[in-house]
Amino acid sequence: VLPSGIVYLDGNSLGPLAVGVTERLRRTVGEEWGTVLGPAWGSCGWMEAPERVGDRIARLIGARPGEVLVADTTSIALAKLVGAALAARPERHLVLSSEDNFPSDLFAIAGAARLAGAELRVVKRSELAGALDGEVALVCLTHVDFRTGELYDIAAVTAAARAAGSLALFDLCHSAGAVPVGLEEHGVDLAVGCTYKYLNGGPGSPSFLYVRGELQGDLENPLPGWLGHREPFGFDLSFEPADGIGRFRTSTPPVVALAALDAALDAFEGVTIEQVRAKSMSLGQLFVEVVEDAGVDGLEVASPVDPERRGSHVALRHPRSEEIVAGAAARGVIGDFRAPDLARFGLSPLYLSFEEVYTAAEVVVSTARALAA
Ligand SMILES: Cc1ncc(COP(=O)(O)O)c(C=O)c1O
Repeated sequence: VLPSGIVYLDGNSLGPLAVGVTERLRRTVGEEWGTVLGPAWGSCGWMEAPERVGDRIARLIGARPGEVLVADTTSIALAKLVGAALAARPERHLVLSSEDNFPSDLFAIAGAARLAGAELRVVKRSELAGALDGEVALVCLTHVDFRTGELYDIAAVTAAARAAGSLALFDLCHSAGAVPVGLEEHGVDLAVGCTYKYLNGGPGSPSFLYVRGELQGDLENPLPGWLGHREPFGFDLSFEPADGIGRFRTSTPPVVALAALDAALDAFEGVTIEQVRAKSMSLGQLFVEVVEDAGVDGLEVASPVDPERRGSHVALRHPRSEEIVAGAAARGVIGDFRAPDLARFGLSPLYLSFEEVYTAAEVVVSTARALAA
């Protein structure tokens, strides 16, 4: 549901409202909450929604049913899984990450590590392999770089982590709904991601967390809560974790937000993530070619030009990127600015046409050219 007259290239930050979400919210709020009230926890499927919606996301990230839970926010989910991984490797005291990780992830990882009596070591990406020693319990990386869109090799990192006896965790915020991740295929241990970017779940929609099926029984939720208990309504004083992914629940599911996300995911029905990826790569190529062909002084493609090595957004570098983003927005092309000098343009394949992306790239180029003149 996009306003006419704009080309929305900010879906890598906040996905737009999807058709069907408003009606679903009217039902969830007006009918279920409004008339069924408390019994709706059972009769309207509210209580099981975190696993049910998780299974819908699982298909898009190459996980199996029962491996994905929708709960919390990315940072909280990340902290929980870091705590769980450290407790599962008690003889090791380091979490390894890279300088290009999302800064908030580094804050959450460091905080969770401190609580577990461990610490975070941050290295350059090129130094990761050399830093993977017997002290590292967990390697934590972001799959797609939020600045440049660079797509990292999840298979290689997971294999290296395994060879070193550590676990591997990926942040899939910029992958889910845009890039095939292949969690099962690559044997990835743990993952988290938000649902408000390419999955279009809405502002502040809950995150998802993934725990490889074989690991679930060995990991403990470091923030246990009643809804991760085997018998949430037994009100027993001792904590007995539920079987499966449900043990990573802490609190009451955010029912209204889950309903919005569930309805938004309908847009992915009948489409494979490989089809989504194929269109995303073509859209990206088109955008990059228009920019490169224009040859505007000072404007360069900051993302990898090889589409295989790029996620679903293209970043341009220019000393006056903030003005380029503002100028393009004034002409109906919505992207975003990331300090100090990047303009990012998200190419979300479910709702963008080639014509729109071509037009948008021309607007960006002419805005940059006008600045230089
Ligand atoms: C890569 C990445 N990780 C983590 C987050 C933080 O997510 P949350 O606000 O849900 O904790 C974001 C938010 O945009 C992100 O882009």
